[in-house]
Amino acid sequence: MSEHNWWKNAVIYQIYPRSFSDSNKDGIGDLQGIISKLDYLENLGVGALWLSPVCRSPQDDNGYDISDYQDIDPMFGTLGDMENLIEEAKKRHIRIILDLVLNHSSDEHYWFQEAKKSRENPYHDFYVWRDGVEGTPPNQMRAAFGGSAWEWVPQVQQYYFHQFSVKQPDLNWENDRVRREIYDMIRWWVKKGIGGFRLDVIDQIAKEPDQGITVNGPKLHEFLRELSRETFQEGELVTVGETWGATTELAKCYSNPDHSELSMVFQFEHICLDQMEGKEKWDLAPLPFLKLKEVLSRWQRELYGKGWNSLFWDNHDLPRIVSRWGNDGAYRVESAKMLAILLHGMQGTPYIYQGEELGMTNIRYEIEDYRDIETLNMYRERLEKGYGKEEVMASIYAKSRDNARTPMQWNDGENAGFTEGKPWMKVNPNYKEINAESQVKDEDSVFSCYRKLIRLRKEYPVFVDGCFELLLEKDENVFAYTRTNQDSQLLVICNFYDQTLEYPLEQPDSSMRLLIGNYKDADQTRMLRPYEARMYFVEKKK
Ligand code: GLC
Ligand code: CA
Repeated sequence: MSEHNWWKNAVIYQIYPRSFSDSNKDGIGDLQGIISKLDYLENLGVGALWLSPVCRSPQDDNGYDISDYQDIDPMFGTLGDMENLIEEAKKRHIRIILDLVLNHSSDEHYWFQEAKKSRENPYHDFYVWRDGVEGTPPNQMRAAFGGSAWEWVPQVQQYYFHQFSVKQPDLNWENDRVRREIYDMIRWWVKKGIGGFRLDVIDQIAKEPDQGITVNGPKLHEFLRELSRETFQEGELVTVGETWGATTELAKCYSNPDHSELSMVFQFEHICLDQMEGKEKWDLAPLPFLKLKEVLSRWQRELYGKGWNSLFWDNHDLPRIVSRWGNDGAYRVESAKMLAILLHGMQGTPYIYQGEELGMTNIRYEIEDYRDIETLNMYRERLEKGYGKEEVMASIYAKSRDNARTPMQWNDGENAGFTEGKPWMKVNPNYKEINAESQVKDEDSVFSCYRKLIRLRKEYPVFVDGCFELLLEKDENVFAYTRTNQDSQLLVICNFYDQTLEYPLEQPDSSMRLLIGNYKDADQTRMLRPYEARMYFVEKKK
């Protein structure tokens, strides 16, 4: 693997810093906490850590509202701690990926503080302002976290545009001074030794609010190419864009191997399948399994040789995959491993979200114990609209972002070993059963399965370059595929549900070596047991 493409056989681990590990007993995870867990991460085998935002922020949206891009929030530590982390990680061949929030800043950022002083202020144009129409907002656009997307500022007699909370005013990318400030800031981080960037809601930067356009604005790719040219071209940086609006066509532009834009993007087509058509994520629907196969294999096929996929089930905005599409009861371990094997056999760069490697699960708390602004706003809005409390809580149990944000479960001691203080958010009560300490020692744990998958990817080139083919397209229970290159083939076969099935393919023979599975004695049965997953390696005859 050339150094420039190191991310093609690496696995990236996402850390949600406030919930990862607390070093100073204030109940909030921090950079020193991360440093203290680097050996664990090295043992797992990951090549990079993407940290959700740690820059200075009033934390209205847990750091996705940045008030100083070139400083660390005191809650997480200091710039010195960050340098320390970069260095300590490097010793373990791990790179640090920063989360760049470039679509908006915090309203407490100096730029915005200036911008709202007067229309003549040199920073006014850093944001998106419009006059009202007879005392009402310029249009009906809504913010993602509820309410109008426009906020009135009496001082300047104008509304500013915010796609997220009122405390997250959108930056005006049309203004080249804004873009230059951003590029300077990024170059400053690159000099500090940062290994790459995750770009928050990057497909929303080219908004055109007068046209009602938020994602995929007409100038998006022009802006991205400039951003890339000015900042990302040097060195071995990995860049991954968060693009809720990506199609395979767009993803080929974003991740074109000519490097003119990004290394890859997160697409969400598969992740949005269990919601009602045209409705919000809170409107629950079952997962259409055949559709899941269709979507994932289409992305595999269409990006082959023309772009690069990122592979993920979980992140800090999504519920836990084992609770969502697996089984967090009797088959928690089996289904967590099945989902891992299914995803890690595909082409692309896999991402593991903290705790996913332990099979951590969703939570069911009282509303007082939730912290997420999106969840709390929705709860209030829906009750006002007349929804029943039970129905609203059911949506929260299934989809709240806080499902993924509970503290990391390190051991079976107090607060799961996350903090010696009072955790900022309640620990999932199942930590005595599900925790890192017990799983690291256990060869049959979910952790050990992830660890092995990461090693296999480094060992067998077919993980990186094999061409994907879906098998059993119409099978209602089994997800099976092959990956084929010049001299070998991977065969992955997964029972997605809890019924035992007849093995639906030709029986494996001696030319096939089982690389990994989630049951012992896999070779001796003609059945696929609940959530059974197997990955075989076949050497081609020369
Ligand atoms: C992205 C982040 C999410 C955040 C939003 C606004 O979707 O992943 O956590 O709330 O952008 O910055
Ligand atoms: Ca702390």
